[in-house]
Amino acid sequence: MNAKVHGSSEPSEWIKKKLDSVGGPVGHAVDIASGAGRHSFLLSNIVSDVTAIDRNPELSKYFRDTHIHFRCIDLEQDAWPMEGHRYDIVLVSNYLYRPHLINTIDLVSPGGFLVYETFGEGNERFGKPSNPNFLLKPGELRKFVGDEFVIIEDFFGEVEEPQYAVKSRLFARRVEHPIE
Ligand SMILES: C[S@@+](CC[C@H](N)C(=O)[O-])C[C@H]1O[C@@H](n2cnc3c(N)ncnc32)[C@H](O)[C@@H]1O
Repeated sequence: MNAKVHGSSEPSEWIKKKLDSVGGPVGHAVDIASGAGRHSFLLSNIVSDVTAIDRNPELSKYFRDTHIHFRCIDLEQDAWPMEGHRYDIVLVSNYLYRPHLINTIDLVSPGGFLVYETFGEGNERFGKPSNPNFLLKPGELRKFVGDEFVIIEDFFGEVEEPQYAVKSRLFARRVEHPIE
């Protein structure tokens, strides 16, 4: 694979561990802004129906001859293009578009999991991304998921692997029956 394509490197160890802990069976999962699908392929080990979404049409070649459905969708359109869709696992790695963050979280079905890992504020000390629009603030993800989720793991801070960075990570499960 082309090392310059996002999502063609080794999967995140943290995401791997979280997916391992989900157990099964899981029906449908989505990899948001999948790149070449390093995590879509991990998902396909535990999920029967995996959708990978990215706006880059050239990435479709990475999913040819696989069971993963690649959808070329621009997730930053004003009108949320995923309206009405629900998944048992929603995975987001190294991607943030704040105007649709709440819509992204809403993709998680009752009882489903959110696995989110991206860069956090302070990452500019180490390199890119350094644009505040691409960096989560401490506690921001947790605030967005609100009380309809049980937080399984919430981390914000510096990491050394695979390179020095500030990361924000949230692993959470939407409750089956929210209290009205
Ligand atoms: C840093 S890469 C992360 C790829 C993958 N999630 C991973 O962790 O390996 C960001 C990805 O977001 C995609 N992307 C950027 N803007 C997008 C948009 N508006 N709609 C859908 N995908 C987008 C890019 O094409 C790229 O593949």
